[in-house]
Amino acid sequence: MTDRVLVIGSGGREHALAWKLAQSLHVKQLVVLREKLVDVSVSDHAALSKYCKDQKIGLVVVGPEVPLAAVKAAQLESSKSFSKAFLDRHDIPTARWKAFTNAEEACAFITSATFPALVVKASGLAAGKGVIVATNKAEACKAVHEIMQCLCFTDGVTVAFMPPAQDHKRLMDGDQGPNTGGMGAYCPAPQLSKDLLLKIRNSILQKTIDGMRNEGIPYIGVLYAGLMLTKEGPKVLEFNCRFGDPECQVILPLLKSDLYEVVQATIDRNLSSCMPVWFEDCSAVTVMMASEGYPGSYPKGLEITGFSQAKELGLVVFHGATAMKDGKVVTSGGRVLAVTAIKKDLISALKEANRGVEVIRFKGAIYRKDIGYRAIDFLNQTSGLTYKDSGVDIAAGNTLVQKIKPLAAATSRPGCNAELGGFAGLFDLKEAGYKDPILVSGTDGVGTKLKIAQICNKHDTIGQDLVAMCVNDILAQGAEPLFFLDYFACGKLDVGMAHAIIAGIAEACKLAGCALLGGETAEMPGMYPPGEYDLGGFAVGAVERGQMLPQLDRIADGDVVIGIASSGVHSNGFSLVRKIVEKSYLDFSSPSVGGSTNQTLGEQLLTPTKIYSKVLLPVLRSGHVKAFAHITGGGLLENIPRVLPASFGVILDALNWKIPKIFSWLQEEGNLSEEEMARTFNCGIGAVLVVQKDLAGDVLKEVQRHEEAWVIGKVVQCQKEFAQVEVNNLLQALHANRLQTLDSQPSKNQPSKTRVAVLISGTGTNLEALITSARKPTSYAQIVLVVSNKAGVEGLKRAERAGIPTKVIDHRQYSSRTEFDSAVDKVLEEYSVQLICLAGFMRILSGPFVRKWDDSSDLGNGMRWDGMQTGKMLNIHPSLLPSFKGANAHKLVLEAGVRITGCTVHFVAEEIDAGAIIFQEPVPVKIGDTEKTLSERVKEAEHRAFPAAMQLVASGAVKLEDGMLRWSAKKQN
Ligand code: GAR
Repeated sequence: MTDRVLVIGSGGREHALAWKLAQSLHVKQLVVLREKLVDVSVSDHAALSKYCKDQKIGLVVVGPEVPLAAVKAAQLESSKSFSKAFLDRHDIPTARWKAFTNAEEACAFITSATFPALVVKASGLAAGKGVIVATNKAEACKAVHEIMQCLCFTDGVTVAFMPPAQDHKRLMDGDQGPNTGGMGAYCPAPQLSKDLLLKIRNSILQKTIDGMRNEGIPYIGVLYAGLMLTKEGPKVLEFNCRFGDPECQVILPLLKSDLYEVVQATIDRNLSSCMPVWFEDCSAVTVMMASEGYPGSYPKGLEITGFSQAKELGLVVFHGATAMKDGKVVTSGGRVLAVTAIKKDLISALKEANRGVEVIRFKGAIYRKDIGYRAIDFLNQTSGLTYKDSGVDIAAGNTLVQKIKPLAAATSRPGCNAELGGFAGLFDLKEAGYKDPILVSGTDGVGTKLKIAQICNKHDTIGQDLVAMCVNDILAQGAEPLFFLDYFACGKLDVGMAHAIIAGIAEACKLAGCALLGGETAEMPGMYPPGEYDLGGFAVGAVERGQMLPQLDRIADGDVVIGIASSGVHSNGFSLVRKIVEKSYLDFSSPSVGGSTNQTLGEQLLTPTKIYSKVLLPVLRSGHVKAFAHITGGGLLENIPRVLPASFGVILDALNWKIPKIFSWLQEEGNLSEEEMARTFNCGIGAVLVVQKDLAGDVLKEVQRHEEAWVIGKVVQCQKEFAQVEVNNLLQALHANRLQTLDSQPSKNQPSKTRVAVLISGTGTNLEALITSARKPTSYAQIVLVVSNKAGVEGLKRAERAGIPTKVIDHRQYSSRTEFDSAVDKVLEEYSVQLICLAGFMRILSGPFVRKWDDSSDLGNGMRWDGMQTGKMLNIHPSLLPSFKGANAHKLVLEAGVRITGCTVHFVAEEIDAGAIIFQEPVPVKIGDTEKTLSERVKEAEHRAFPAAMQLVASGAVKLEDGMLRWSAKKQN
């Protein structure tokens, strides 16, 4: 500690200065000189100087303006005409001004000025209340946006900027009420951008300091510039030669550096080597608490409480006009005290300061609650909503356009340059070689095939579906596709995904021979969820007059129907397809149907729609084709009649063409009727040509050079009441296809599955659940046999329908339980069964049988199964074992009046309905339940529990060891 410091002044500002100086390690003792110290008056400079010498004061810090007025450089504050003239001399931006010594002249000027003369400043010192901004807001706003305070330390050369602050002069919230010395302030003021601050620093503060030095009156200390922010830039309103009050109380808490060191460096003219450092990412708010009646007359001597609570809140309270009376702190002036909060942002700081003024109490205290509201409005404005915030990213859209431009350009063709970017695309038909063209246009979307693309995250081929759906349609009118425009709408624009889709569209345009002339990308949050999109588009083509299709008048009885292969389901019927997949044992990641490729079912279904235009245009233009039908929505039944006269129909024979296996699977899984198949799907025929019989061979050959095609039927005359399309043998063809599929289904790559036999006695609903589970490609179990002790039961039919071998072993044919069990055992051995599931098997099994199938060490035949160490027999029981064993579980449950029952899957032990439990699922017993209703609900639980238990045991994840259940770490699906 080196120094004794004297602070002159008695207000909150001086308290803040003393508070900050007291934090310095250099300060040994701090003396605050209020009005009068013993017999030293602040205005008596000689006495003050002597006092300082006597007291060995090393530094005097002056808070208020009055003691400074005698300093020459302080004219910047004390003389408005000096400062204004100085500003003009040095070309420092300032508000237009005029000084008057007479009030009438001033008023005349105000009313006659050609600009809004709204700021009135009394010359001389006015204790911070000198500047009055007119209340006529409408006019004031034209010129004055904000009044800010920018302060700096300066050593006469260097300017060390303080963070900008703004005080609130008016007494009441919303800047209402009379002018005051300042009812609060906040710092830093976010309205001042870095650029603006730099401008203020260079063109105002630095210029002022340089100007003063150059005029021989160097300015050293704190310079305060009151600035108007106008449309034309910041303008000086006034200078003060000291800290402001309450600006000091809000700025100094943000000073990280030692104030003593900064002041010393200022005096030593060494500021550049000791620039003050400020807390960053912090905001301070100071709220002034004033006496009731301020700025008019007010009472004094009122007790103030709550300082300790404010301290607990982490607030700093600067005393402005307080005194001690009888050991209590009392009010002694107008602006009593200032509460300063420092927080990470302005809003939190204001909140905290407002909490502070709530806890500090004195009678009639008045204060504002909205300090910094302009800044908060400003922040809300700048951090206000943007289009991007609301989910539309224009920049991402622009990036996409740049990325797809080359793709579109690559589709240019005679008639157009496919360059994106204009408002609309142009096409020159003459340049494309047309003489008397008819324009033909078709529009379409991809439909719910998109859903599969989205689920499979495969977007590169869906664009071909879009283009194909449109160009194949216009081809049916004999038109050549010339250009295409797409519409891509999504919930959230993923540039990569959109690029893949549009690349697919561009590729397809090349295949079709048309240009991608434009498109629309629409990001529509709320319309589609993120990750989902819709795709639409339209193709425009042309055909020379006279060459249009269909040529209805030429179609005749006996014409030949040529079918051209589709690539699969194309882009129709996908709502049904998805429903079938959902209900089936497969999902989109399952191996494809037909088993000949490494595709997944999803990929198989996403096979893009064939585009027929390039291949077929020469054939269509040959004049040999009377009609072309695109087999699109409505399948074979709805589309062929679109190109036939009403009096003609076609008879097709499905055995004449190759049906892709996916159709057989769809038919089988969905149990679809022949009619439903033919009306929904193309069933392997993507397009149909109607050709005169004697030309059919040539046309077929021509088509077959590029595409698989067949003669699939003929044109016949038909009566109006008959269907125009008759498809014979469709089901047979689909079934034949399916049998081939089953035969060719490769078993390689499949995990070796546990061979399961299911023993039943009745309806077999559990059997059905086990079959469904075992059919999943990921299943560890394979049901190889179903044994029933009763003939003709529904369970046997279920097994037969699933193609599973069945055996009926009627217990009545055997003289003893053991004999019956031996017969069962024999069959199980025949089928190399590894696991038995008892699914409603109503026979009690003998001890030897149970021991054999539940303990591998007791196999007797020397067999030991891979992955199946122990526990070979499972049973499902319709109660929560060990309660309610036996054949009448539901009856017993109802009689007992229990509120909860359920089902149990367990390994079979010799004792009835006993053995280690694998799985249980509870089912509540409802009021009014009968055995039937309870059984139905319990069965639903059984159908979940039993398959799950079967998979656990079949996979080896669950085992029986010494009669106890053992879970292994083995992977389970
Ligand atoms: C099921 O409820 C099963 O729990 C039960 O027989 C029913 C067979 O139904 N089994 C027992 O009671 C064995 N103690 P299902 O033939 O429809 O699968």
